[in-house]
Amino acid sequence: MPKKEDHLRVKKLSALIRNHSYKYHVLDEPEIEDSKYDQLFQELLSLEQKFPELLSKTSPTQRIGSKPSTGFKKITHGMPMLSLDNAFSIKDLEDFDKRVTERLVLKENLEYCCEPKLDGVAVNLFYKKGVLDKAATRGDGTIGEDITHNIKTLPSVPLELIKNEEIAKIPNALEVRGEVFIESFEFKKINEYSKESGKRIFANPRNAAAGSLRQLDPEVTASRPLKLFIHGYGISDSSPENIPNNQFDMLQLFKMWGFPTNPEVKVAIGINTCIEYFSYIEDKRKELPYEIDGVVYKVNKFNFQQRLGKVSRAPRWAIARKFPAETGKTRVNSISYQVGRLGSVTPVAELEPIKVGGVTISNASLHNFDEVDRLDVREGDVVIIKRAGDVIPQVTKVDLKDSVKRKPKTKLPKICPSCGSELFREEGEAALRCVKAQECPAQLVEIIKHFVSRNAMNIEGLGDKIIRLLINNKIINNVSDLYKIKEEDIIKLEGFASKSSSNLINSIGSSKETSLQRFVYALGIREVGEATALNLALNFNDIKDLIKASREDLLEINDIGPVAADFINDYFKNTENIELVNEFMTLGFKLSPPKKDDSSNFSGKTIVITGSFTTYSRNELKEQLITRGAKVTSSVSNKTDFLISGEKPGSKFSKAQELQVKILDEQEAIDLLS
Ligand code: IVH
Repeated sequence: MPKKEDHLRVKKLSALIRNHSYKYHVLDEPEIEDSKYDQLFQELLSLEQKFPELLSKTSPTQRIGSKPSTGFKKITHGMPMLSLDNAFSIKDLEDFDKRVTERLVLKENLEYCCEPKLDGVAVNLFYKKGVLDKAATRGDGTIGEDITHNIKTLPSVPLELIKNEEIAKIPNALEVRGEVFIESFEFKKINEYSKESGKRIFANPRNAAAGSLRQLDPEVTASRPLKLFIHGYGISDSSPENIPNNQFDMLQLFKMWGFPTNPEVKVAIGINTCIEYFSYIEDKRKELPYEIDGVVYKVNKFNFQQRLGKVSRAPRWAIARKFPAETGKTRVNSISYQVGRLGSVTPVAELEPIKVGGVTISNASLHNFDEVDRLDVREGDVVIIKRAGDVIPQVTKVDLKDSVKRKPKTKLPKICPSCGSELFREEGEAALRCVKAQECPAQLVEIIKHFVSRNAMNIEGLGDKIIRLLINNKIINNVSDLYKIKEEDIIKLEGFASKSSSNLINSIGSSKETSLQRFVYALGIREVGEATALNLALNFNDIKDLIKASREDLLEINDIGPVAADFINDYFKNTENIELVNEFMTLGFKLSPPKKDDSSNFSGKTIVITGSFTTYSRNELKEQLITRGAKVTSSVSNKTDFLISGEKPGSKFSKAQELQVKILDEQEAIDLLS
């Protein structure tokens, strides 16, 4: 039994550790030596081990918990996580300021909160009564993935907020948003280590941060030096008089509650001061320990933000000014060819490695052969490379001055670089194609990658590297072979231990029980995306019926046009494909048809959608309607029952008014859906 002094000591140690951790991670003002901190931590740990009844959920020792048993759960954000409009020039910024000032009918200069735009991973943290309850990735802005177990491992994330009643009461429910990132030098260290130990190399710090957060094992996340800055909030049940009335002061309050915030944030009065802030940050960029891709300007006052509202998925009160694309000059060592899932062959410029905007680039897609012609790029040429934020590096032109003794013009390849078979160019298409499908090793890799992907069969643990390993070792020769893999086949492969082998085999095995729409999508039929797969599944309850469907049957279906109908029809006319499907069935696949909700307000109705929506993407809305038995068509006619109109509707809106079709706004549609 713990004595009273043990209770007190645990409490004291927790408070001390929390306080030193805050000083170190948030204020950047450490007060004690690391060794002293470790000593306090060890003392707490051993007391908690001795008296488990003294262990609290928010103890500083509770950062690494257990792994979630099943993948990542979905979490719906309390309030959608918006995105930002971009400004690329001073003029764009001035226009933004003009728009905002006019809307608010103001004469004086507006106050803005200026913040560096971190190039990290957006996260949403939810606190219940001041205790971290859940954390999610941004996902599609409405629904993200549950990463609570990983977020807890970040030392700068408060598990419990610091109470300071004189300043502000902690809300019962609070959602804060921020950016998780890895500092540039840490990123280098991770990659150097990965290289040495033959592990995966990350392309940039953002990918490293994203990869570290999307880990099923929190110990891996804990081993990565992830940091966080909070830059906003979602829901908060505080009454307005309890919290500051502007963004800058809110950030100061976040800091007092224990959240790390970016020290470079400043208030600027008038757009000219904002422009100066941009130059200041541009100069400072090189010294910052983390990567940023621009500056975010937010109208500082919350009541102004509220009055301005949002358009589609971006607020009217904020804008991001991105740094201009960075360019570099380098040589094309060779032009190689990549083969995609559907056999299209893409030319790639293999470059003499060059650093552009802090990232080393060693290849750039040339997209297609029309682009190769347009640029007239040849092996050995010196080219200009451009990289802008997220966008993959591009070859913008050949530097003819520096490209001496040019090689002959780049010719279209005649044979597939992977399987050596003849390539075809379909009429009207820019792409060359290899038609060998699963017989072509490069295509097989891509086919399997798609088949196992998250929205298809959702098989965890089968990444690019393992798929290649399985194919190269002839363990699999086609997709269905995945289901015949035995533990003894893979245990001898590099990187596999007995546990990882049986995990992989289990996750492959359990994928056999899935929905019909996932399976149809996984087959990778051209033009059959997730929405079409769902439509097909809703119309044919059984895969056998889908196989038998005629082109006419397919054309009857909601949203399936002649092109998709032909591809689907051709796919199921091919005996190899039928054999493949039959083989899956023999292997014990169980495909459940989607649940239909015929009692819905939308059942049997013909609906057209226009504009954009905040709660759903258009595809999600479509899916919601289809599963409720609605037919979603693309143009308004006398047969249309409802037009659902989001923001910025197109001409369908006036057409619906003209034909007196009932128009629903987003909220009305959502109400009817539920
Ligand atoms: S505010 C409603 N502030 O940029 C405002 N976002 O392009 C929404 N980001 O997904 C975001 N630094 O992850 C905001 N200081 C900052 C930011 C920031 C980086 C990211 C954020 C968002 C993306 C939008």
